[in-house]
Amino acid sequence: MCGIVGYVGAQSALDVVMAGLRRLEYRGYDSAGVAVLADGGLATAKRAGKLVNLEKELGEHPLPAGTTGIGHTRWATHGGPTDANAHPHLDNAGRVAVVHNGIIENFAVLRAELTERGHALASETDTEVVAHLLAEEFSASADLAEAMRLVCRRLEGAFTLVAVHADEPDVVVGARRNSPLVVGVGEGETFLASDVAAFIAHTREAIELGQDQVVELRRDGVTVTGFDGSPAEVRAYHVDWDASAAEKGGYDYFMLKEIAEQPKAVADTLLGRIDPSGSLTLDEVRIGAAELREVDKVVIVACGTAFHAGLIAKYAIEHWTRIPCEVELASEFRYRDPILDGRSLVIAISQSGETMDTLMALRHAREQGSKVLAICNTNGSTIPRESDAVLYTHAGPEVAVASTKAFLTQLVACYLVALYLGQVRGTKWGDEIRDVIRDLSRISGAVDRVLETMEPVRELARSLAEKNTVLFLGRHVGYPVALEGALKLKELAYMHAEGFAAGELKHGPIALIEQDLPVVVIVPSPRGRSVLHDKIVSNIQEIRARGARTIVIAEEGDETVVPYADHLIRIPATPTLLQPLVSAVPLQVFACELATARGNEVDQPRNLAKSVTVE
Ligand code: F6R
Repeated sequence: MCGIVGYVGAQSALDVVMAGLRRLEYRGYDSAGVAVLADGGLATAKRAGKLVNLEKELGEHPLPAGTTGIGHTRWATHGGPTDANAHPHLDNAGRVAVVHNGIIENFAVLRAELTERGHALASETDTEVVAHLLAEEFSASADLAEAMRLVCRRLEGAFTLVAVHADEPDVVVGARRNSPLVVGVGEGETFLASDVAAFIAHTREAIELGQDQVVELRRDGVTVTGFDGSPAEVRAYHVDWDASAAEKGGYDYFMLKEIAEQPKAVADTLLGRIDPSGSLTLDEVRIGAAELREVDKVVIVACGTAFHAGLIAKYAIEHWTRIPCEVELASEFRYRDPILDGRSLVIAISQSGETMDTLMALRHAREQGSKVLAICNTNGSTIPRESDAVLYTHAGPEVAVASTKAFLTQLVACYLVALYLGQVRGTKWGDEIRDVIRDLSRISGAVDRVLETMEPVRELARSLAEKNTVLFLGRHVGYPVALEGALKLKELAYMHAEGFAAGELKHGPIALIEQDLPVVVIVPSPRGRSVLHDKIVSNIQEIRARGARTIVIAEEGDETVVPYADHLIRIPATPTLLQPLVSAVPLQVFACELATARGNEVDQPRNLAKSVTVE
């Protein structure tokens, strides 16, 4: 939430910062702003609304040229999305500018203190207090990094801050607590950003900042310290994807590109997981096999789409390992005093690795003595850093706010973790593991085939553009897929969409069925547990008898559903537990097309942001 960029070098800071903000707009698009150090002072521009409004403003009122600058794209927390609340925020003398991602929880107290000392604050934001505090501290030390350290010690909450001061023209200072911030190191230039995508066009050499660290950027390098001023250890890494991965590549939307990338993302996530002896490997495991054998409960914590991946994982984990598995919304987890101990294994699933609810859940779990395994798509982000083990998904950068390829790769990772647990605990034989791996390795091709046959799904979506409600039904692993289909439709098409366990329908929700109401039903394989399949075929008949327009997703060759399907979407035959990897795909295409037909912004749905770094 909120995208931040900082730059010091020889190029036009405005050009670098604006290009970076374009790459970070997925993180928030309520307002945007920039500040450039030029002619011995600070020049700023900011506008409510999307980045295009700021671009227009800069076109009409260009800023003077400078080579040090910062920028921000906002997802509003404190104060509405107005010009005044847009970042950067300045002190009263207009010498210091600051941008911020997160929430400063004690801002009201600090604001009152500043007002008492004669400062005039111009916005409703929590951020503005930082600009004024930095100005006060700088007047004593004339050192922005030191001022930042002193200010950070007084702040409570989650914050990433980036600041410049007109009296230190070749310096950008950043601070990080809980929200993401990475450093880019180029030739004679350095960068700071919420995400490497902002500077990947300039350098692929990055430095991960740790918790409670302050970084001072100069053209020729960076200095990192703790909030207390002690030298800090940092991890440098090479980003293994390039700028083209963060471009639309000819697609109208990132979401379309990311849907199309799924076969590769799935294959990449499987790559190199099996050693020559047939054993599975995780990326970083600081949990020994002996400890994993002692685990008596698995608890999965995640949010949104990642939570749905967790719901599906439960079926595989319990079936393959016989360990009880709970799945919980990360935002609820720590507030109900969950029963955890050293024998509980907590799995935190997160594309961004920065979701605050998930981060807080994993911290709570570790405080109770549990081991945490992260499934994450973002190398070096906070959630894997704070976990005991990590399995990275290899989806590549996901830019569209609605998660697609990350979801499929999270599922692959969950299956791998379930197999790994089965392997170390001996509940799955080597040949059984190899059979599942073989099935998983066929999924990439199956997703490709689904994608080739999506035109009727797009046509159907367009024909439903005027509808108000769509329901989704599934059983077993099809139930979380139904929830995911509904979530995609809500967030993209702004329609009333709900997912139900098909068997639960007659306990209430069936009252919603009326003439011509579209109901999507995900049908399990008839070759698997046929009782599951037959039950859902009965459910389709029940809703059709009450007037529903049935949209049935069923395996190729499943003829039993044909008489009851008003629309039939075929998917390749897949083992029951793995079916979500193919059945989720038509639902992504359906939601994307419906959103387009309704004139909505597919990549940037209203009110949302990609990375939710506030609780
Ligand atoms: C929905 C979506 C969100 C995220 C959720 C968790 O399409 O993208 O529901 O899945 O905010 O985000 P991560 O996986 O980054 O923790």
